[in-house]
Amino acid sequence: MNQRGKFITLEGLDGAGKSTHLRWLVDFLRRRGHEVVEAREPGGTPVGEALRQILLHQPMHAETEALLMFAARREHLARVILPALEQGAWVVCDRFTDASFAYQGGGRGIPFAKLRILEAWVHAELQPDLTLLFDVPESVAQERLQTEGRMLDRFEQERIDFHRRVRQAYLERARENPQRIRLLDGRQTVAEIQKQLEVIISSV
Ligand code: TYD
Repeated sequence: MNQRGKFITLEGLDGAGKSTHLRWLVDFLRRRGHEVVEAREPGGTPVGEALRQILLHQPMHAETEALLMFAARREHLARVILPALEQGAWVVCDRFTDASFAYQGGGRGIPFAKLRILEAWVHAELQPDLTLLFDVPESVAQERLQTEGRMLDRFEQERIDFHRRVRQAYLERARENPQRIRLLDGRQTVAEIQKQLEVIISSV
């Protein structure tokens, strides 16, 4: 029997540098001989990608948004994440439930207590083995998004105080889960962060 794989999630504001570090991390783990499944939320399955299109572009009630995020997640767990982990692969996922606490909780104002009910329903038995939280002040994240010059989705278009609340909620989750969530200062150079990631990954 294969040993169960590890589940690693990456979190942070849009513009915090998550995608750059995700690509490097996946390569790094593959070079170390791990089988790696790369995933993202919302999305990762046909149903999840359809929900992603709706979530990123259609205005809706905040609770509908939270429920659809967790619906996409339920599908992703059943079809991709859990089978991969059981087969011994490592799963590296761009966002997971901490993003729902940050965006729907902090950003939209849904009480954490309600989100905890959905979390317990959808994955009571599973938490990531490690979560990397790339933290940057919301002003830095906004500036980076603007210099990228691409079309912004519904979340990215939100005002700066939305992103400030998202950041604060992420930091609160990190305080509540100090063993699992590792906070990285996203203002450092890419090379500095990679050095820290190597050390962190060796201890998973
Ligand atoms: P992401 O894939 O990081 O965006 P991009 O493709 O632009 O890099 O995430 C898409 C958006 O979804 C992001 O702005 C945050 C939002 N989101 C939530 O609001 N709640 C969630 O639970 C998740 C997973 C994402």
